[in-house]
Amino acid sequence: MIALACDHTGIELKKEIKKLLDSMNLAWKDFGTNEAGAGDDDYPIVGYRAAKAVADGECDRGIFICGTGIGIGIAAGKVKGIRVCTCSDVYSAELSKRHNNSNVLTMGARVVGSELAKMIATHWLTAEFEGGRHQRRIDMIAAIEDGQAL
Ligand code: RB5
Repeated sequence: MIALACDHTGIELKKEIKKLLDSMNLAWKDFGTNEAGAGDDDYPIVGYRAAKAVADGECDRGIFICGTGIGIGIAAGKVKGIRVCTCSDVYSAELSKRHNNSNVLTMGARVVGSELAKMIATHWLTAEFEGGRHQRRIDMIAAIEDGQAL
């Protein structure tokens, strides 16, 4: 299950991402917002809500959108266990999965067009984590999260 979230800037792009996921037969759950001015259209609110669903296991990964992808990524990354990649190119998106096992992709609706966004999402969704030495480094990140010094 893929968690989807956006602020008021990302409503249209999120619709395109939904169509992409449907075409890939991937299930999604929308954590809002779906209306500018609805009260949940600030990126920290929806970013936190959807990131929590990923961290709690209700969803296994997420695609979140704001104007730049940055604000919603910062907010989501405050949730323990969330590894965010904010991407506007396919190389970073793919490597963020293969090396960093990113579990949330964020994109900027004011940065990337819908075709590029769908290409980025496709690379991210189909890439696989390589484990090995990369797992060791992710374990270090988890240790930082737990307040340990490296
Ligand atoms: C909203 O204007 C904008 O600041 C937001 O969508 C996002 O880009 C923040 O990082």
